[in-house]
Amino acid sequence: MNNGETVGEIMITEKEIRKRAGEIGEQIGRDYAGESVLLVGILKGAVPWMVDIMKSISLDVEIDFMACSSYGAATKSSGVVKINKDLDSDIKGKNVIIVEDIVDSGTTLKYLKNYLANRGTKSIKICCMLDKPDGRKVEIAADYVGFKVDDLFIVGYGLDANQKYRQLPYISYLKG
Ligand code: IMP
Ligand code: MG
Repeated sequence: MNNGETVGEIMITEKEIRKRAGEIGEQIGRDYAGESVLLVGILKGAVPWMVDIMKSISLDVEIDFMACSSYGAATKSSGVVKINKDLDSDIKGKNVIIVEDIVDSGTTLKYLKNYLANRGTKSIKICCMLDKPDGRKVEIAADYVGFKVDDLFIVGYGLDANQKYRQLPYISYLKG
């Protein structure tokens, strides 16, 4: 099925994404030296980025996943966040790093950060592959950012448009 949309040119290559993920993973290793971290990946979009990040962290790393959605399938977030899958593990006393694909309005991450902080974490930070600062509606900043992008509808490397394009090994955008 095609709704008349086409994928634009490559904005960020796989090589560039993996290089940046490596740098951030090493930075996380330095920032939490002597400690361990729990990466909380937000399904499904964060999966490829999380895989890249975790391989370059030279600490004890645990991983877990959450799934959430803003109500409705619109391309603009509706502002209300629903948890579809919660964590399997207890996060009390842990250094949690939320790993997300993209920060747009910021609604999802602001909600998730508060939600997890209420469980007595030792610390909580955010690592996102992409940041779309022009889309921001609530105040939230990621601690580790892969790349800043313009206010386009981004697809690839985990990011979808109605569940398509997640498998593209690069970052692109939808045209038309
Ligand atoms: P936010 O709550 O508005 O920051 O949006 C967060 C979620 O919306 C992300 O986790 C993505 O799943 C989705 N999203 C935001 N912008 C894009 C985009 O450009 N392409 C694909 N998904 C996006
Ligand atoms: Mg998402």
